[in-house]
Amino acid sequence: MSNSILRTRHSARAFKNKEISDDIIKKIIADAQWAPSWCNSQPWKAYVLTGDAAKKMHTLHHANVVSGEKSWTEVVPPQFTTNDWTEGEWENMVDFWKAADVSPYPEDEPQDKLGFMEESSWNFHAPVIIYITIPKNATMFSAYDVGAFGYGVTLAAHERGISAIPAYEFIRYPKEIRPFFNIPEDEAIFMGIGLGYAQENNDLNKINEFEKNPRAKTEDILQIVK
Ligand SMILES: Cc1cc2nc3c(=O)[nH]c(=O)nc-3n(C[C@H](O)[C@H](O)[C@H](O)COP(=O)(O)O)c2cc1C
Repeated sequence: MSNSILRTRHSARAFKNKEISDDIIKKIIADAQWAPSWCNSQPWKAYVLTGDAAKKMHTLHHANVVSGEKSWTEVVPPQFTTNDWTEGEWENMVDFWKAADVSPYPEDEPQDKLGFMEESSWNFHAPVIIYITIPKNATMFSAYDVGAFGYGVTLAAHERGISAIPAYEFIRYPKEIRPFFNIPEDEAIFMGIGLGYAQENNDLNKINEFEKNPRAKTEDILQIVK
């Protein structure tokens, strides 16, 4: 099997309390800027919390989660109903929920054995959080570009031995994010990515064992015509 960095990258959800220098953060973002985009329009912007600001955010986020406040985002996400997904997507998602023990359905009685929900509520204690925005009036084509930029961030981090978690969790309370930055009103907060040095799995923390999500069979998603 190939050793491509595309295959060795996995999301991490628990991080060491070890900072990443501003210089490395800048290099990761600068590399990700080489993502392709429509006519090189580069519709992304990046806003970064690090050091004490990131720690402050962990606490703020946890408080919002435990308060039970309903979350919302500036780019409307799909819902957890089959209406928003194809059968194939839904099957992939159910496998993910089972492995993570985080089904959103009460009848499944998730135990959060891996600490997935607990770590989420603390923004995974990620020492660096990158918020990526998209112009509010963007079309779906710009979403392709911003996604490429975000994936670039995860790969540029991985190349430097730094793990990442792209997560809806980071952006589900925009009101906790905007006061930290001067984000123009015509930009929507689209995605959050946590960066850090991954914690090794141990008896107390097994969440990063949940790191090798399977993929659909290639022949099921591919057609080649000669
Ligand atoms: C748009 C997007 C949103 C995501 N949101 C979350 C999230 O809120 N919480 C989480 O733990 N993982 C989240 N993830 C990570 C996915 O669960 C993960 O990428 C997927 O299961 C594949 O695993 P891998 O990244 O380890 O290959 C998100 C990923 C993407 C691309």
